[in-house]
Amino acid sequence: MLETNVTIVTGAGQGMGEVHARILAAKGASVILTDIDTAAGEAVAKDLRSSGHTATFIAQDVASEADWQKVIDQAMERHGKVDTLVNNAGILVRIPLEELSVEDFDRMHAVNVRGTFLGCKAVVPAMRVAGGGSIINISSMSGTVANMPGMTGYCSTKGAVRLLTKAVAVDLAKYNIRVNSVHPGTIATPMTKSYYEDPDMRKMILGPTLMERPGQPDEVSEVIAFLASKGSSYMTGAEIAVDGGYTAV
Ligand SMILES: NC(=O)c1ccc[n+]([C@@H]2O[C@H](COP(=O)([O-])OP(=O)(O)OC[C@H]3O[C@@H](n4cnc5c(N)ncnc54)[C@H](O)[C@@H]3O)[C@@H](O)[C@H]2O)c1
Repeated sequence: MLETNVTIVTGAGQGMGEVHARILAAKGASVILTDIDTAAGEAVAKDLRSSGHTATFIAQDVASEADWQKVIDQAMERHGKVDTLVNNAGILVRIPLEELSVEDFDRMHAVNVRGTFLGCKAVVPAMRVAGGGSIINISSMSGTVANMPGMTGYCSTKGAVRLLTKAVAVDLAKYNIRVNSVHPGTIATPMTKSYYEDPDMRKMILGPTLMERPGQPDEVSEVIAFLASKGSSYMTGAEIAVDGGYTAV
């Protein structure tokens, strides 16, 4: 399904990014994994290669413009083009507004928003070589609703990613580059692990989720794979909820 596809997945060392990389590779994509955690990212790429997939790891802080240039240069050297970029790396600091420091607010914006902006910008020449492409920005249901207390910083980043996606879609449509945002609900990953250990917290974080359970990372990866594929060829500027129905009510 994605046999000729060259895909970059950021934050692929663990959590959803790791599973996205594994599932896209299983569907035939050549995958470039990036992460700030070199050991974790290297291990996933090595494991994928040992199963016969084409996978490369590149150390990257997504908030750094120089690191983005390095990733795109290496991708071009190896593959000569990029078809798909999954801007997945993100951080969450959940703290009440009165205690949220400027440093934490700015760091979340640097990684979640600046990182996504830099990725969208840096990948354009490599996608133009491919004749077009698909950029998939990972927002959150927290980019649509303020789903629990202590989310001022995070919600403001994910809301920004939602509209940044649409604005970038407007600018890149002329190059046949599609740009969509994915809005996961409560997904069981290391980022949210501590929430599920406490029954009261689990109840609060699930809130009105119609399916009454956290999602699994692969349930998001399958949507990513669809957005990377030709099956979604008429979709751009769209926001796709993958939240078990949380935002439906
Ligand atoms: N888990 C959820 O319930 C949930 C829900 C909605 C959206 N999201 C979003 O999905 C994405 C993945 O979340 P997750 O739960 O898998 O998180 P996670 O914390 O399990 O994994 C995030 C990965 O990103 C990497 N990373 C962090 N900062 C980075 C940086 N500056 N540069 C490069 N890599 C960096 C980490 O090392 C880690 O490997 C994030 O954007 C997150 O905000 C998560």
